[in-house]
Amino acid sequence: KDSYDITLLPGDGIGPEIMSATTGVLLALSKRCNFELRTTEALIGGAAIDAVGDPFPDESLRQCLSSDSVLLSCIGGYKWDANPRHLRPESGLLKMRKSMGLFANLRPARVLSQLVDASTLKREIVEGVDIMVVRELTGDVYFGTPKGIDVIDGKRVGYNNMIYGEGEIERIARVAGDVASKRSGKLCSVDKANVLDVSQLWRDVVTEIMSSEFKDVELSHMYVDNAAMQLIRYPKQFDTIVTGNIFGDILSDEASMLVGSLGMLPSASIGDGLGPGVFEPCHGSAPDIAGTDKANPLALILSAAMMLRYDLDRDAEATILERSVEAVLDMKLRTADIKQEGDGCRLVGCIEMGKAVADIV
Ligand code: NAD
Ligand code: IPM
Ligand code: MN
Repeated sequence: KDSYDITLLPGDGIGPEIMSATTGVLLALSKRCNFELRTTEALIGGAAIDAVGDPFPDESLRQCLSSDSVLLSCIGGYKWDANPRHLRPESGLLKMRKSMGLFANLRPARVLSQLVDASTLKREIVEGVDIMVVRELTGDVYFGTPKGIDVIDGKRVGYNNMIYGEGEIERIARVAGDVASKRSGKLCSVDKANVLDVSQLWRDVVTEIMSSEFKDVELSHMYVDNAAMQLIRYPKQFDTIVTGNIFGDILSDEASMLVGSLGMLPSASIGDGLGPGVFEPCHGSAPDIAGTDKANPLALILSAAMMLRYDLDRDAEATILERSVEAVLDMKLRTADIKQEGDGCRLVGCIEMGKAVADIV
């Protein structure tokens, strides 16, 4: 196959800026490598609320499901923060993941040699770090019921339910086992089984799946509080991490500072492999820098590389794209988030960074 239908979801904040940088790169890559990308934009998040009053309209879902793959920037912003929950951008993102069956989110945190000094941690701690966080994406306290804010005896109570069914844990464990066995074979499952029943089930089921289906994978368990500390103390002890939705959300943002910036972290949201995946950076809409050309487009560009690899079966092209990102860093171009004082690099904006990658692919 040499022609693909891609849905683009530019979203909010810096979303449209990084999307335009990334589509420029993809266009250049497709020309060089002789394949065609037919792109269609669709609405999600605040942009969708403003346009049609729904953060993930059915039309967008249909569009996504009928494509070969989906590339998403980011959603959210102050403007919608006071809306009722179902009219918030974040609800659109969750609805997209759930309705497309994207239960696994792969978040690689690989420290590039060019950026070791961009991390706030010491060079010797982060150099060579290469971690894959496998985050469960459609369960946990994000989707559990009952949930809400009620009034009891004149006082408000807020509640959500942290809940995992056995089947949900089994399928994410299989993804993690598969990922780990293609990497170093080391898998660390992160939970809070010392306190939470849902985590005890998590630990039991992950152990069962690994011992019956992934005998070559070396499984360890760690409590999430310790894991947060160990990620900073000695991150090189980790290879593949598997964890639930909310712990994975938090630990992957933490892991981004090993790499140097949240603006460098891509991700792949995938399901059973029958439908399209969604490829999305780990970061949000960065409203503090939106519209100023300061955003780092590399997380989305690297997400596009994951799209080429996982959904379009274009491994060689994914590698070209990843090498091009490194080549641009070798040319000492830096957006503000990865620029260090006195590093001898040139500060560039989102547009120029995108053009530099497009020129080199
Ligand atoms: P954020 O990730 O948007 O920003 C956190 C910090 O990182 C900010 O200082 C921001 O400027 C910086 N940053 C993030 N991405 C960057 C990039 N590509 N280049 C340079 N700097 C970057 O998190 P937040 O501020 O907590 O949330 C802002 C909004 O984004 C909220 O509405 C939140 O719900 C939403 N959000 C969306 C997603 C998503 O779309 N997947 C993820 C996280 C947060
Ligand atoms: C992310 C974001 C989302 C999440 C929010 C915006 C719903 O933080 O993609 O990491 O928590 O999954
Ligand atoms: Mn997050």
